[in-house]
Amino acid sequence: MSHFCNKFSNLNIKVKAGKLFLRSFSLEELAEKFGTPLYVVDAERIEERYIEVYKALSKYFAEFNVAYSYKANHSLSVVKLLTNLGAGATIVSSLGLELALVSGVSPSKIVFDGPSKSSEELTQAINTGVGIINAESFEELLLINSIAQNLNCVANVGVRVNLNIRANTHKKISTGLLSHKFGVSSNDLIRFLPKIKKLKNVSLIGLHSHIGSQILSLEPFAEQAKILAKLYSRVIKEFKVPLSTVDLGGGLGISYKVGDSNISYEDYASVVFSEIKSIVSKEGVNFPKIIVEPGRYIVADSSILLTKINYVKKLGNKKWLLVDAGMNDFIRVALYDAYHEILPTRKLNRKFLEKYNVGGPICESSDVFALNRKLPVMKSGELLAILDVGAYGLSMASNYNVRPIPRVIMVWKDKVKIVREKESLDDIIKKEKVPD
Ligand SMILES: Cc1ncc(COP(=O)(O)O)c(C=O)c1O
Repeated sequence: MSHFCNKFSNLNIKVKAGKLFLRSFSLEELAEKFGTPLYVVDAERIEERYIEVYKALSKYFAEFNVAYSYKANHSLSVVKLLTNLGAGATIVSSLGLELALVSGVSPSKIVFDGPSKSSEELTQAINTGVGIINAESFEELLLINSIAQNLNCVANVGVRVNLNIRANTHKKISTGLLSHKFGVSSNDLIRFLPKIKKLKNVSLIGLHSHIGSQILSLEPFAEQAKILAKLYSRVIKEFKVPLSTVDLGGGLGISYKVGDSNISYEDYASVVFSEIKSIVSKEGVNFPKIIVEPGRYIVADSSILLTKINYVKKLGNKKWLLVDAGMNDFIRVALYDAYHEILPTRKLNRKFLEKYNVGGPICESSDVFALNRKLPVMKSGELLAILDVGAYGLSMASNYNVRPIPRVIMVWKDKVKIVREKESLDDIIKKEKVPD
């Protein structure tokens, strides 16, 4: 890119007179007012994305639950916004369940996933009456059954099936192969079914699959829908288990890099619908209620991380911009080798002719946000915007290097609000006790 061109995922990022804006907000002014590092969340963008997902599904499916995946971003302001729009919740922990309830999600719209749920977590989920608990082993089903028996109730469960589907994504966020730890194989599901049917306090209502995250092609999703629909029909017909639900997990990626391919929920819903439809019609079973668990797609491009350049230096033959945000604030580049666009908040009408590495303040070589990135000539004190940090950003932030989780602001129409304060030392140590 020799100069700025807006082909980014969030088209509300704009340039006026060489300066970067999010909708009507100058990002430079927001950084001046609220300090850096600073997460800026565009609430309207989250709303736009949720509505896009909802509309796409409603075009094809009579009954569905958009169970937003809390792991992508569990900020209270974000989950409340989504709850108010009608979203359900996919949670993977006890506090995630409490957060969904606090944010007002009705228990019937809560999906409880995870490969190693504790008995306390399962007890809480059964007591709450969540819509579905997706079990990942026969042993987990036995535990759910015994907990439900003690509570004198019947728990609605799904089984997460490992369909052995390869999704072309980073190895650390790929989950659909038999070499991963997730789910039970289709063969084992069939083998266990007679035993599952005998469990009196478990009602098997659905099948679940999640093949990975940041997937940018429809083929793996089509394959997933097809195999799951076949299995769903077989379980109903051959084993007389009255399944009602198919949970397709999350995983649709976004375009982080200009030129990345992209799939929309419209394309996804259409493909998945036709795969399922053709199989259930052929097999003569009811069309299932659909659950989807999107995280990244809904929140990723809503947020920007603003960071100040502390120093510009040359080392060897590389030029470094050393910024005030670190991998504790945003770990995706260090952990997943993720690519994120980085823009200056001004000088966008200049040519991007310099090549810089961008690194943070943390004493670790992986604390780097970009290598050989083309930017205009930059000076210390100037600001950079790291784009598309709304998913797996703040939710993975930590206090590593005794650094506070940063301040977060949310913009909505012409309003801006602090939705999370920058942490103090007190926040960091308040749960600790020093022995005498
Ligand atoms: C079981 C499950 N569901 C849903 C998601 C959300 O995925 P994504 O953010 O890619 O939509 C994940 C994340 O990997 C997951 O593990």
